[in-house]
Amino acid sequence: MEVFHIPRRGSMLMWAMAIQLILCRISVFATDSTTACKLISESKSERSILNKLEPLAHKNITADVTNGDDSYTYVFQLCGDADGIHLAGVIQKDKKAEKKPTVIGRYNATQAIGGSDWVMLIYGSGDTYDAHCSQETRKAIIMISCNRNTDMGPLEVVLEDRERTRDCFYLFELDSSAVCPVIVSHISSGSIILIIVFCLVTVYLVGGFLYQRLIVGAKGMEQFPNYAFWVEVGNLTADGCDFVCRSKNRDEAPAYRGLSTDALEEQPEERDDHLLPM
Ligand SMILES: *[C@@H]1O[C@H](CO)[C@@H](O)[C@H](O)[C@H]1NC(C)=O
Ligand SMILES: *[C@@H]1O[C@H](CO)[C@@H](O)[C@H](O)[C@H]1NC(C)=O
Repeated sequence: MEVFHIPRRGSMLMWAMAIQLILCRISVFATDSTTACKLISESKSERSILNKLEPLAHKNITADVTNGDDSYTYVFQLCGDADGIHLAGVIQKDKKAEKKPTVIGRYNATQAIGGSDWVMLIYGSGDTYDAHCSQETRKAIIMISCNRNTDMGPLEVVLEDRERTRDCFYLFELDSSAVCPVIVSHISSGSIILIIVFCLVTVYLVGGFLYQRLIVGAKGMEQFPNYAFWVEVGNLTADGCDFVCRSKNRDEAPAYRGLSTDALEEQPEERDDHLLPM
């Protein structure tokens, strides 16, 4: 019974507050990691989509791709110089040929399109194609999808679509929890009722315990509030269970029953006599 001390209520309140804090996911983000991205057409909604991606900022995210004899490394960075190359958002490095990396997209020509659990980031103004796609500038599309299990998954190169005359693009995929919808925290009315009931029970136990101990001066189990009442409830419940659940047919074996009830009728009185002096 010593467990039910007053500090218990205090610590319970602290737990409740801690849980609420976790649920609310109080987000304190600095909002300057994505400002380097220059949107092709500045708009508030597009900027807010970009801001969602902040946890991905300041990281060189790489992917290696081997395709037959060709072997490339791609480096992506959110609104920062990929692999240290000025203005580059996505670059492609040829692992064999010792030549300058190709810039696939630059973050001074950014577009951000977002849905409930995804963001499509488009970097334009890449290096021009030599022969394909009417020698237009390269473009990178990075599809970022919600995955609550990872801050930032591996970068996947999906395809390079360049067998056409215009609007060619490189497509990448990335999983991240940054684009997941925020879980709205609201404690359901059911839990509120549970919490209230729990508080009341605690107050009852603590208050009753203190009353019994300090004012009535009870000792041992009788410090438990309304001890006699609860013992009675327990006995009644046990009787009820016995009545409902006992598989033995009451009409059978009358001789045995008669004998046993006689014996039983005496015994409880004897037991009560033991309890009375307390
Ligand atoms: C990205 O890589 C380049 C080249 O290795 C390096 O100079 C730069 O500091 C890296 N940036 C970050 C944020 O790691
Ligand atoms: C982005 O920067 C590159 C390199 O300086 C430049 O060629 C390109 O025109 C710029 N794009 C935009 C949309 O400003």
